Amino acid sequence: MMRVIENQWYPVLESRELKRKPLGVERLGRQLVFWRTSDGLPHAHLDRCPHLGAALSSGNILEDHLVCPFHGFEFDRIGKCKHIPAIGRKGKISKEIEARHFPIREEFGFIWLWWGKEPESYPQLPYFNVLKAGWQYGTVVTEWPVHYTRAIENQLDVAHLPFVHRTTIGASGHSFVEGPYVEANEQGIKVWVTNSIDEGQRPRSPAELAESAATKEPGLHFLFPGVWLLNLSPRLKNYIAFVPINAQKTRYYLRVYHHVRIPLIRQLFEMLMGISNRFILNQDKRVVLTQTPRDSSDAHQERLIRSDRAVSQFRRLHERLLEQKALSCQQATTMDVSLYPSSIKEDS
Ligand code: FES
Ligand SMILES: [Fe+2]
Repeated sequence: MMRVIENQWYPVLESRELKRKPLGVERLGRQLVFWRTSDGLPHAHLDRCPHLGAALSSGNILEDHLVCPFHGFEFDRIGKCKHIPAIGRKGKISKEIEARHFPIREEFGFIWLWWGKEPESYPQLPYFNVLKAGWQYGTVVTEWPVHYTRAIENQLDVAHLPFVHRTTIGASGHSFVEGPYVEANEQGIKVWVTNSIDEGQRPRSPAELAESAATKEPGLHFLFPGVWLLNLSPRLKNYIAFVPINAQKTRYYLRVYHHVRIPLIRQLFEMLMGISNRFILNQDKRVVLTQTPRDSSDAHQERLIRSDRAVSQFRRLHERLLEQKALSCQQATTMDVSLYPSSIKEDS
């Protein structure tokens, strides 16, 4: 079974992908079914009928019940079986006949699934405060045959640009990586990118890098379990939600966030940004697909260097979070993605 960090909200679908019809998809290594009740609320279950294992996603919705296509068992939004045609309206339904359901939220144009123990109260969704209001966005969706760790690390790697993106965003040949200055904790990783042309200059000291980071927004910001922000300018951001499909496949929801409001221009702008982002991402894809082992948790033999600091922090925290199955509900409720109270400040 695929290993993923527990006790997290995972973005799993864009809202627009889920209509009224049951939708069967693979996420986090499990077959899941999503559907909406008449009030528009989304629901999620394991896509396996507790009766004889048929896929509920090939069923239909009847009066706010999800109906199995095999023998017509009906399940409500929390998976309780409400009707078994073969035993009649008066038949007694065992409590054990239940379609496992998952807590779910719908916000910021995504459907989020809670993976883990049900806490008394849930932590807030891992989303960037800066994106919460006033933006337009366009999305590009793509799937790569890679483990999510390699997909995420690729977007935290600040040294590959002059090589992988030689013809695009790496054309300036800024191969010399100062730092990068990184702040990281179990909520996320912030990276201040300061790359330049190698002219034999002395790299700035950690203290100098920290000082300049103090007055600037990080260039890259990642939040566990898998959302990422590239700070292109105060009014333009790229965002990726990395959605684990299974151990061999990751789905990317790549959004450009902007402020272009005039409908036709907006469409054109999003189309052009989409084409360019897809092109750049394909440059990454060619190399990331070749990385072995597929799951970076198994890559103990790899020798990371100073410029890989964001990647090494990701590995360290990812491993720690994977092991924290017993993260207490109390801890979970105190997570605050906008604060870095226990930041591990990098200083070497
Ligand atoms: S398998 Fe679903 S009702 Fe029988
Ligand atoms: Fe890249």
